Amino acid sequence: MADTKRRTWSIAGLLAAATLSSGLLTTTANAAGGETSEAKAPPIVGGQPVKIAEHPWVVYLTDPQGNQFCGGTVAKANKIVTAAHCVSGEKPESVQVVAGREDKKTTEGTVAKVTGIWVHPGFQNANSGADVAVLTLDQALPQQPLALAGKEDGSLYEAGKMSSVLGWGATAEGGQASQTLQKAEVPLVSDQECLKAYPQYKSDAMICAGFPQGGVDSCQGDSGGPLVVDNKLVGIVSTGNGCARPNAPGIYTRVSAYHDDVQAQLGS
Ligand code: ARG
Repeated sequence: MADTKRRTWSIAGLLAAATLSSGLLTTTANAAGGETSEAKAPPIVGGQPVKIAEHPWVVYLTDPQGNQFCGGTVAKANKIVTAAHCVSGEKPESVQVVAGREDKKTTEGTVAKVTGIWVHPGFQNANSGADVAVLTLDQALPQQPLALAGKEDGSLYEAGKMSSVLGWGATAEGGQASQTLQKAEVPLVSDQECLKAYPQYKSDAMICAGFPQGGVDSCQGDSGGPLVVDNKLVGIVSTGNGCARPNAPGIYTRVSAYHDDVQAQLGS
């Protein structure tokens, strides 16, 4: 498995925001069993822990030992949309899907086995586009699927529109993954602006989201997870320069561009 997908990431700074807004200076255990002060994180605009019951379609991917490494979205009872870079080169038996579990430390929800992995045939790496994959599960999940944005959904991609990104990834650049589901609200960025930040940006394959001043973003471990506008999957967490840096929005797979390819994998 490529090293990049094992790095832990999350919705940067959400925990810090929760800490600051509650007026408490708390510490959080890190993966190594030590403690880090979240108060050192920069101030965060927006973002919060959320209930999975309100976002039933968000799932996370684990290795066979149960270690979370990416996110995903239920697109059909037995089909998960995720990022190609999360699962490219993997065997189905090395990936599991956890649905309905807000807190990784619980046994809530369902752990489904993966029986098939489809990676977009055009995928090479996250910087070149086609960062989309579909997992087939060994069972039908009870979770309500999220609709995919299609060609007719151009209005969902207007610059400035607020979108939600969800995941269990790192809460700060270089930080550890979140134990619980986090959600952040970020504005969609115009193609022109995103191209300024990223010369590799392809408007027919990607969409960027983030504030010019940074502070709110997806991060390592959130890859493959959903970017949502008006209850439709518009993006898939793909890549970015660090997390939540100024003038470096998150880069997401443009779902509408791959709607037909993905829909063909979902079946009728
Ligand atoms: N590539 C990362 C992952 O594998 C996600 C990067 C998202 N970065 C960002 N700045 N939004 O988890």
